[in-house]
Formats: sequence, structure tokens, C-alpha cells
Amino acid sequence: MVVKAVCVLKGAGDTSGTVYFEQEGDSAVKLTGEIKGLAPGLHGFHVHAFGDNTNGCVSAGPHFNPHGKDHAGPNDAQRHVGDLGNVTATDDKVAKIDITDKIITLTGQHSIIGRTMVIHEKADDLGKGGNDESLKTGNAGARLACGVIGIAQ
Ligand code: CU
Ligand code: ZN
Repeated sequence: MVVKAVCVLKGAGDTSGTVYFEQEGDSAVKLTGEIKGLAPGLHGFHVHAFGDNTNGCVSAGPHFNPHGKDHAGPNDAQRHVGDLGNVTATDDKVAKIDITDKIITLTGQHSIIGRTMVIHEKADDLGKGGNDESLKTGNAGARLACGVIGIAQ
């Protein structure tokens, strides 16, 4: 069985994007799409806990972390489930999304469907920043745009 999801990201500024998710059975989740209106460089990209945008992206809460771990990078053994690391915007202010991740899932108790994707102002330091905030948020700064992950056709 293939499960598909989609997320349309919007924010207060001119950052916006669309991310597509696809998972076959219990295999890794593939993310594709693009986010535009980003300063060139790295931008933190995470699944946050709540599908709540009532007060903008801040209402999405912290990184999705059902197992009570510290913040880290996508390839670290211990990480928040929502830690997808960074995406890179090129000089045209567009970041192409091409991520395969084995920790997030679109099915079961810890499905990310109904939660929020957030794209951040700054780079995620992947928990290596040497301060408390690094182990919570990766010091990725403001939430430029976000959207709730929904079931796709
Ligand atoms: Cu985030
Ligand atoms: Zn995190």
C-alpha cells in the first residue's frame, strides 16, 4: 500500500511552498517539492508537534518528539522524529526538496499526518551548537512559513 500526503506552506512574508510525501508499506518516506522566497543558504526544516496554525506557525508547538529525545540531525541515531535537518536555497531563492527519511512515517501511532511542517529563517545546527537551545530547536530562528500535512489523493 502506498500512502501519500501533501503540505502547502504559507507564512506572513513571501515564503511559500509545497511538499509531497510518499511511503510504500513500512519503507522510508520520500519528500519532494520546493519552497520559494528563501534567502540563499541553509534553512531548518522540521515536523512540529501540532496541526494548529490558529496563531500562525508558532501554534504548531515544538518539534514532533514522541520519544522525548534531544534535537539532532536527520542522520543521528537519537533525534526528534521531526528532525529533517536543512534544505538549501540557491541564488534564485528556491529550495528543491529531495529527502528520504526512515524515521518519519505516514501511518500508525506516530504518523506525521495532521502535524505541521515548518521552514525556518536560519540554518539548523543539528544539535551541535553547544548551547541548550541547540538541543531543542537547532537555533533555526523564526518560522518563515508552515502548513498542516494532509492526506493526498
Ligand atoms: Cu522547526
Ligand atoms: Zn528537533
